[in-house]
Amino acid sequence: MALVGLPLAVFAIVVNFYLVFSSSSPPVCPANARHGDRTSFHFQPAKNWQNDPNGPVYYNGMYHLFYQYNPHGALWDVGNLSWGHSVSGDLVNWAALDNALDPTAPFDANGCASGSVTILPDGLPVIMYSGIDGHRRQVQNLAFPKNPHDLLLREWTKPGYNPVIPVPADVSPDNFRDPTTAWLGRDGLWRFAISAVANGVGATLVYRSGDFLRWELNAAPLHASRDAVMAECPDLFPVAEHGTGGLDASASGGAGVRHVLKVSMPDTLEDYYMVGRYDDADDTFAVPAEDDQAAGGDDYRRWRRIDHGHLYASKTFFDASKKRRVLWAWVNESDSDADDVAKGWSGLQSFPRAVWLDEGGKQLVQWPVEEIETLRRRRGVLLGADEVEAAGGLREIGGIAASQADVEVVFEIASLALAGAERLDPDRSHDPDALCAEMGAAVHGGAGPFGLLVMASGDLHEHTAVFFRVFRLSHGYTVLMCTDLTRSSTRAGVYKPSHGGFVDIDIEKDKTISLRTLIDHSIVESFAGGGRTCMTARVYPEHAATSRSHLYLFNNATDSVKVSKLEAWELATASVNVGDDGLISSGGAICGAQTYL
Ligand code: FRU
Repeated sequence: MALVGLPLAVFAIVVNFYLVFSSSSPPVCPANARHGDRTSFHFQPAKNWQNDPNGPVYYNGMYHLFYQYNPHGALWDVGNLSWGHSVSGDLVNWAALDNALDPTAPFDANGCASGSVTILPDGLPVIMYSGIDGHRRQVQNLAFPKNPHDLLLREWTKPGYNPVIPVPADVSPDNFRDPTTAWLGRDGLWRFAISAVANGVGATLVYRSGDFLRWELNAAPLHASRDAVMAECPDLFPVAEHGTGGLDASASGGAGVRHVLKVSMPDTLEDYYMVGRYDDADDTFAVPAEDDQAAGGDDYRRWRRIDHGHLYASKTFFDASKKRRVLWAWVNESDSDADDVAKGWSGLQSFPRAVWLDEGGKQLVQWPVEEIETLRRRRGVLLGADEVEAAGGLREIGGIAASQADVEVVFEIASLALAGAERLDPDRSHDPDALCAEMGAAVHGGAGPFGLLVMASGDLHEHTAVFFRVFRLSHGYTVLMCTDLTRSSTRAGVYKPSHGGFVDIDIEKDKTISLRTLIDHSIVESFAGGGRTCMTARVYPEHAATSRSHLYLFNNATDSVKVSKLEAWELATASVNVGDDGLISSGGAICGAQTYL
């Protein structure tokens, strides 16, 4: 272990890990592993490829997460698609179980693609998933727990009568997949929604059944989008008009309840949603006229984004133990395939987020589940005053390992600073990514940019900026949020975009903007305006392999910005799918000296 030259705090941490993990048999590191990218509290299998979250469910006191998994390698390979399976008591620490589904039957011989879990009235869960059959057709199958008394639901059986739904005549056989969790209508019939290309049109279809075995396609789609092709991984869920509590999928669409329809667009890997009314009499989803117009008719791409960064295939479930709705999503790598093969894994799940409807009734609020607080270890301090000076102001948040942290900060903007905000041409508001690319963190402005520099090297050569810029409109102001990745890594072949999104808050009235950012080695998940705008990014800083990362507040605006709240926590490494093959799978714990907190 090369410890020479390390700062004292890092030395102590490294030694700690060394002691902990040298007490049992030492972990074996594959020759080319790039362990610095491995996360410490995000869900990852011990190795190999993962993509969509499948069938998250709370069952008998346990959380289960199934996920698209290639057990044979670090790249996506349709023929090998299995359902990985892990369980947790707290949504933070996870134990890996054997795969729940593997492509072994004629009706899924070419892969077990995405799907969902539904709890039946007898209390037993059932999986519905898309199998890719021997003729490469996408068909819908059921699987049941082999042993109903096994609380861990370790083994699943796929009845021989599958598929329960073959490809309908007018649906293209390679575009019929990703069934949602089913819900019960007031007529006592089950329903689920599924993505398809029907008669050449991308649509979300609904099936109905009295017994969960025989299913009938509803003539009208739940929703169809003229302008979109196949939209993947639909999700339809009820939300309460008031409060932060979640609702079971079968909560009816009566008074006080709205529904959210979410789809995932494969061409851009972006998730879109709309809040509307679901009618279980005809199984249709309608968007209020004014919202529909604002959203540009039925084009999903004009709907709201679940996350303005790098996040896809989200899926929610109702957590009956805490009466909340929780969202999972796949966060892909943005390095190269060769990098993924070298490190032996690819893909993360976003940290689970509680979701509810904002009081305005049009957008979702997303917030990391409260269990994250069990990982909080040490509190960071702002070095210097609680003002970040104008134009080039930089303050370090010290005292914590900045590569696995939970940071919450509230910026207060004086009226004077607002007065300096630049005017925004309304035409430019349609492309926040372009605005953020043009006006990155280094471009000084009137009211912004100010925010956080995360995963920064000591010399600031590498850093990722999460920041705000306030613009003046003809009436009032608008707040742009950006994650600027252009300086995130000096490594070649890494995708380094600028993510952008507007934050729906009244800055003139509130005078404050809040930002919460979860930093976990190669992922940065940010929540602005109390969770109204979310932005996830992948980062691969080179310095992390040899030195520790730093965390700063910065301000490149004309006026100073007051920090009216700062809570920065170092997070402990969660126990996530620790492998049984000698590999310690969680971030900071891997292979001793190669990882720097
Ligand atoms: C979305 C998706 C789904 C499909 C699965 C296959 O990422 O393409 O439509 O079921 O991944 O892994």
